[in-house]
Amino acid sequence: MKKIHARTERLLLRDWEASDLEDYARIIADPLVMEHIGDGKPRPRSNAVEFIDTVLAHQESRGWTRLAVEHAKTGQLMGFCGVDDKIGRLDFGWRYAKEFWGGGYGYEAAAAALWVCQNTFSLTQITSQSYPENAGSIRIIQKMGMTQIGEGTDFGRPLVVFGFESEWPNGLK
Ligand SMILES: CC(C)(COP(=O)(O)OP(=O)(O)OC[C@H]1O[C@@H](n2cnc3c(N)ncnc32)[C@H](O)[C@@H]1OP(=O)(O)O)[C@@H](O)C(=O)NCCC(=O)NCCS
Repeated sequence: MKKIHARTERLLLRDWEASDLEDYARIIADPLVMEHIGDGKPRPRSNAVEFIDTVLAHQESRGWTRLAVEHAKTGQLMGFCGVDDKIGRLDFGWRYAKEFWGGGYGYEAAAAALWVCQNTFSLTQITSQSYPENAGSIRIIQKMGMTQIGEGTDFGRPLVVFGFESEWPNGLK
């Protein structure tokens, strides 16, 4: 039985299942989806295997991880939204199959996943980061109420880091 963390008008935010592997592998194999992530290259199936192993383990051990986002009407896996800590701080992010872009799902999922992180899991000092040219992601981050708290680089590309001003009064140190 799938554990559902939140329902919105059009989405289910739920725990991952091992059977999500092939759908997730297809999403991250798309160069357009991965253009603004890490080194900007599509990821092999082995990366999806590693991801599913990790999220299943995190669900079991601590409850929270990036949540699977499912299209409620069709039951299709769209991608993920939520928090991970592999960069050493709480990093809120998202990633959806191209067919779901441009319909308001990105913000719909982000608002619900943020609620889950803050209220179900009591997480604080959540950050989010993006390459500056990823206009859609930056717009969603701003609509979530985050402002710039720092900057950095990743794979030699400039990176902007966002957070809630009240939680980062001195910015990211
Ligand atoms: C970024 C992404 C999540 C956006 O999802 P989406 O469902 O298309 O976003 P929404 O439809 O909810 O749009 C939210 C806002 O961003 C704007 N927006 C979305 N994509 C945009 C783009 N490419 N350029 C400019 N603005 C964009 C929308 O117009 C909307 O603004 P508004 O509310 O002021 O009208 C999606 O394109 C995606 O999965 N990209 C690949 C993965 C990725 O880049 N992850 C983040 C790495 S940091």
